[in-house]
Amino acid sequence: EVMGILDGRADLERELRRVLGLRAVRVVSGDVDENPEVKGDLGFTAARFLREVLRRGDVVAVTGGTTVAAVAARMPPVHPGNILVVPARGGVGERVEYQANTIAADLAERLRAEYLLFHVPDRLSEEAYRSLAGEPQIAEKLHLIRQASIVVHGIGQAIAMARRRRLPPEEIAVLEERGAVGEAFGYYFDQDGRIVYQQHTLGLGLGDISGMRAVIAVAGGRGKAGAIAAVAKAVAPHMLVTDEGAAREILARY
Ligand code: G3H
Repeated sequence: EVMGILDGRADLERELRRVLGLRAVRVVSGDVDENPEVKGDLGFTAARFLREVLRRGDVVAVTGGTTVAAVAARMPPVHPGNILVVPARGGVGERVEYQANTIAADLAERLRAEYLLFHVPDRLSEEAYRSLAGEPQIAEKLHLIRQASIVVHGIGQAIAMARRRRLPPEEIAVLEERGAVGEAFGYYFDQDGRIVYQQHTLGLGLGDISGMRAVIAVAGGRGKAGAIAAVAKAVAPHMLVTDEGAAREILARY
């Protein structure tokens, strides 16, 4: 029986890896949309992978969201030494417990690491973006954030994330018009993984991520299937940790 379950998940992982063109996929059982406890399993599985890839001297970036918060919460104690945890972007505007800053501090505590806080709003006007990026203290922090060799990131459903971030209705209409389905790092992607909208955000950009040693995506739930597929195509993470609910829905569609 146990082998049957394991085999079933291994098949799912193999298929998902093939369909999304990824190097590694882990599928935890259940569906976080139906059972919130699955979020802890997503977090635990991503945390175990992080432990495997973590090396002394690494800078680890984390995004916001409840799923990445679960990664920090389930991080096993491991102290390779000289680790710096940074928020991937300024995330002020979200609920504080799900802001990247809070998660970075939480993860750092578990790793006995240093952390950096980056208190800038998540959404900036073009003008504010330019002037803030030119501030020496902010530029220095941004420089450190861009040193990240590992990132753990969440994936959001485009419209749900836009609402959570209180984007004005006219911008949400633009997202809908352009077929935005997934969100990560402040970028919104259509179902083919094309960027259709981008927030003015200080922090990691897609260009920074492409050179990293380990990009770890973690997201589950049947409702996120389209978002996960879109972001996986765009970001091509080294590891996707998801759940059965999302995995089966993605495979049903592709
Ligand atoms: O960027 C994606 C979102 O932060 C995902 O948030 O894990 O709470 O669904 P969530």
